[in-house]
Formats: sequence, structure tokens, C-alpha cells
Amino acid sequence: MHVQQILFSQGFGTRHECTGMVVNGQVSLAGRVLDDPFEDLDTDGLVLHVNGEAWPYAEKAVVLLHKPAGFECSMKPKHHPSVLSLLPGPLRVRGIQPVGRLDEDTTGLLLLTDDGALIHKWTHPKRKLPKVYDVTLKHPMDEAARQKLLAGVVLDDDPEPVVASAAELLTPTLLRLTITSGRYHQVKRMVAAVSNRCEGLHRSGFGQLSVPPDLKPGGWVWVDPSAV
Ligand code: URA
Repeated sequence: MHVQQILFSQGFGTRHECTGMVVNGQVSLAGRVLDDPFEDLDTDGLVLHVNGEAWPYAEKAVVLLHKPAGFECSMKPKHHPSVLSLLPGPLRVRGIQPVGRLDEDTTGLLLLTDDGALIHKWTHPKRKLPKVYDVTLKHPMDEAARQKLLAGVVLDDDPEPVVASAAELLTPTLLRLTITSGRYHQVKRMVAAVSNRCEGLHRSGFGQLSVPPDLKPGGWVWVDPSAV
């Protein structure tokens, strides 16, 4: 693929702007500044440097964001900035979107992609992808409440109980809860259903992924979709 076409496909601007970036010497490959916008490159495993930043070619973008508190997952945020503002411009140009939603005050693992089929696959209830939440509780939780979460609790909008597939007390006020469904405010409402209150919520796992230990809140990394 031509360098200009590659840049365009990755969200770096119009074809004209991408041509300009090459002509201006903003794009390099393995230390060599590319000066011909129409040079043909093999996209397999390609890592360009654009304005000094490494940019691995990805036909479809999938990234893992360590969501900080104070950001909304909505595309049209009302009270706080959007999580999209934490990602580089080219990913926003490509129409990257969160895979499901986390509340504004929830921190942790948020996947985003520009591949609608992947969003569908990863959020489809039938897939039952595990999501792991570390819940800071207002009151110490007893064994009876933990068992209730595993047996299933009824939320106010649906008579069908929702169950936790795992519920581990790391301390009496720190619960590691695994769920495979994704209802509105599900964790907070499950915790409320056993007469407790969620004081802090952090998603530590999604599918097979967990937040990389060295990834600070607000940071993001590329993800291989087969690793989810
Ligand atoms: N459940 C909630 O209550 N909030 C979240 O952000 C995610 C799951």
C-alpha cells in the first residue's frame, strides 16, 4: 500500500494532508525518513514513526484504556470529558468507540475499537464474556451476602435474577466480583440488592485481559483482538 494511503487508513487526515505529512518529512520507517508519498510498503507488521511516535499499522484498531475516574464513555458527554479525549486524534478520526460502558466514576479496563463486528461480538449476551470488578464496599460483607450474589439477585427493572459467576472477598470491604452480563449499573445495583453500597468500582478484567500493571490511569495500549 502507498504510504499516503496507509496514513489515510490510520486516520491521519485527508489524502491531501497525508501526502503533505510525507513531503514535510514527518513520517519515517526504521530510522529512514520517507519522502515519496507513493512508495509502496508491505503493511504486515509495519511500524511507522509519525512525528517521532511509533504507529503500528492496524487494519482495525483495538486499544485497552486504563480509564480514570471523571471521564464519560458516552460519545456525547454531558458533565465530564469523554474517554475519547484520552486517545490520539487519528483513533478518533477512525471512529473508535468504547466496547460497552463504564460509569463516570468507575476506573479500569475499557476496550475501544473501530470494528463494529468486534463490538457486537464482545458485548453480545450469548458470549458471556467475564468482566471482573474490584468493588470497595461501604460495609463489611458477610458470607450470606456473598452467597446471595452467587445464587442471583433481582434488580428493579427485571424479574430475571442476575448472578455473579464468582464473588471473592479480598478483605471484608473489598469484593472481587465476576459477571458475564452487562446491565445498566449492574454491579452497583447487585451490591445494593444485598444491602451494601459500592464506594469505589474498578474493572480489573475483561475476557482474558487485565489492566497491565505498569499502565497508569489515562494510559492506553494496542491490543491483539485474539487476546480478548
Ligand atoms: N456496573 C456498574 O454499576 N458500573 C459500571 O461502571 C460497570 C458495571
